[in-house]
Amino acid sequence: MDSRYTNIIKNAYDFAQSQKCKGEIASYIPELANIDPNKFGVHMTKLDGRNFGMGDHLEKFSIQSIAKVLSLTLAYKFVGEKIWERIDVEPSGTKFDSLLLLETYEGIPRNPFVNSGAIVICDILITHLNDAKKEFLEFVRDVSDLPKLTYSDKIADSEKATGYRNVAVCNFIKSFGNIKNEPNVVLDFYFDMCSLEMTCQQLSQTFTFLANGGKKITDGKQIITSSQSKRINALMLTCGFYDESGEFAFRVGLPGKSGVGGGIVALYPNNFAIVVWSPKLNKNGNSARGMLLLEEVTTHSELSIF
Ligand code: DON
Repeated sequence: MDSRYTNIIKNAYDFAQSQKCKGEIASYIPELANIDPNKFGVHMTKLDGRNFGMGDHLEKFSIQSIAKVLSLTLAYKFVGEKIWERIDVEPSGTKFDSLLLLETYEGIPRNPFVNSGAIVICDILITHLNDAKKEFLEFVRDVSDLPKLTYSDKIADSEKATGYRNVAVCNFIKSFGNIKNEPNVVLDFYFDMCSLEMTCQQLSQTFTFLANGGKKITDGKQIITSSQSKRINALMLTCGFYDESGEFAFRVGLPGKSGVGGGIVALYPNNFAIVVWSPKLNKNGNSARGMLLLEEVTTHSELSIF
């Protein structure tokens, strides 16, 4: 990595570390409440393979909703544009687990990244694959070059025992006919999908395909078309941070996706993927310190898609 990037990341890390960031760890999933709130890591992977990380960037964390980008990728690959008959492409302006707009839009989730949308994506994958859980894991293993990656039973079980809101969301959508399989089967897959764990380094390497027109940088495999990749980036920009997507675009200026484990992935198309992990979340469920670090990185590098 050239010194320009390493200096920018080092300065952004030190600055974000020195700031008092308000926020709480996600405790509605009991297993996530055990994480040390002071964990802080960042890792950038350039498309030429150079990379640089700092802090706890080699420690695994629960990627949670960041996995929704990968499940969308797999479903989009199979279903193509027809996928948008089941899920819209609009920001929701609501919390990630809201039921509010499902009534208004008759069971069509606003986008694939709110829980309702990701649950419909799981339903689509179950319909199109023989064994969605197994084949999704194989897909992520391939994209990430992590052949030993597994779901975390501990985290999945913890959420399965307490995920009443997601149970409500799934059943509510089923009542409108936009869930085709049994809700308990769909939810079981959804909770497993959210339980994947990766390090900042592994996750930034994984997401480089979306900065590279849908193509993996390690073996050149085309995962999705460049048009699909562009559209997923557009959705990350407009919907990746729920009711804070505008704020993220305003402050950071890159497509990205957050998870309640405290991770954020962001991409600069044709250039790099970057992942930051800091578990304390702001009121919108996004990593407070993570957002601050990314804002510093794009401000000082003057890299932004705008
Ligand atoms: O369904 C849930 O609540 C979690 N498994 C995922 C939520 C999440 O990561 C939202 N992201 N900020």
